[in-house]
Amino acid sequence: MEHNNSPQGGFSTRIIRRHFAKPDAHGAITLPIYKNAAFEFPDSESIAAAFQFRHELHTYTRISNPTVAGFEDKVKAASGAENVVALASGMAAIANTFMTIAYAGCNIVASPHLFGNTFAFFKSTLAEFGVEARFVNTDNLDEVAAAVDQNTCAFFCEILTNPHLEIANLPEIAKIMRAKHVPMVIDTTIIPWCGFEAKACGIDVEVVSTTKYISGGATTMGGVIVDHGTFDWQHNRKLAKAPQPKGMSQFMFKLKSEIARNMGACMPPDTAYLQALGMETLQLRYEKMSDTAYRLAQRLTHQKKIVKVSYPKLEASAYKALSDALFTGNPGAMLTISLESKEACYRLMDNLHVFRRATNLFDNKSLAIHPESTIYGTFSQEMKRVMGVEPELIRLSVGLEELEDLAADIEGALSKV
Ligand SMILES: Cc1ncc(COP(=O)(O)O)c(C=O)c1O
Repeated sequence: MEHNNSPQGGFSTRIIRRHFAKPDAHGAITLPIYKNAAFEFPDSESIAAAFQFRHELHTYTRISNPTVAGFEDKVKAASGAENVVALASGMAAIANTFMTIAYAGCNIVASPHLFGNTFAFFKSTLAEFGVEARFVNTDNLDEVAAAVDQNTCAFFCEILTNPHLEIANLPEIAKIMRAKHVPMVIDTTIIPWCGFEAKACGIDVEVVSTTKYISGGATTMGGVIVDHGTFDWQHNRKLAKAPQPKGMSQFMFKLKSEIARNMGACMPPDTAYLQALGMETLQLRYEKMSDTAYRLAQRLTHQKKIVKVSYPKLEASAYKALSDALFTGNPGAMLTISLESKEACYRLMDNLHVFRRATNLFDNKSLAIHPESTIYGTFSQEMKRVMGVEPELIRLSVGLEELEDLAADIEGALSKV
């Protein structure tokens, strides 16, 4: 049976009705898990053609796999992107992207307010290969523009910073980068595709930790690189001479034919199965979690023992206007609260019973963490200062429990502070 895969319908419809590239022999309506390593070919010419991207057959699971390709297709349906590569984690997506576009002597213009491992990847891992991270205040467009030179290989930031909850004016930064021929590589982990439009934000390449919203309840680790096909890679010194097969950018060709194969951080097929399933309920979960997060944030602003509640949709947020403009009214399920001291944070954390003390974001379960002592726990005081990590801050990720239970949990814990 042949299926019509044209990208019609609403967000969830597009994901759910997306059929796998080749109909299943038994007509299975959920993508089967192909756990095998290798695929057999009838003759030498057809296996050669598969290795050379002349047709889309799978050769070896580290290179491509039908179940993983099925998940990638659902990401294409959700994001509207031209090409998607799924990998073992969000960090694998970030590392593979920069291994593809960065070269010794180049620089990355980035916000310093990054997820801890991303910051360390730029500041330490890539620095040892001669790549410079130029950290800028993304609220200051002149500073952003001034940091770019002919060796800038990308502008990078998170769509909503974790845990600072800042929003860069992506459409304005994109205008600057377009003029200077620099790609916009954005980590969109914190807002899924039903919450923003990549083209309106001027994003060329997205990197995403699918461990978060996509996995459908923190079932598995995963990451995707999403190429919107909007950047002309002739302007990247390393990629200018790379081939450009039909339907693939030079970035994608280098990534698929060399970097991802050589780094070997492929997404396991059983992960792809669970994440494809997670995609089907993504919008439902996102809308419910965002709604609860907003109402919880509003309620917590009335608590005297809380010095500050940060959530982009609150009137008091400096980023409310950008949040409303870029995120279809839903800035997601992460919020932060600041207390008097680190000791007060520990006391509150230790008295939570519904929120789990755990890292990660956007699980079905609500999570609480003290970032300064955990995610950034091994960072020097200087690095913490550059990154703006405060010891008085708790990060909350709101799950699918009822608002009343979550609010009562925090209010109960506050009474012990
Ligand atoms: C914004 C952001 N990017 C990337 C990552 C890394 O993702 P992973 O843990 O899947 O490697 C995280 C993890 O928390 C994150 O919050």
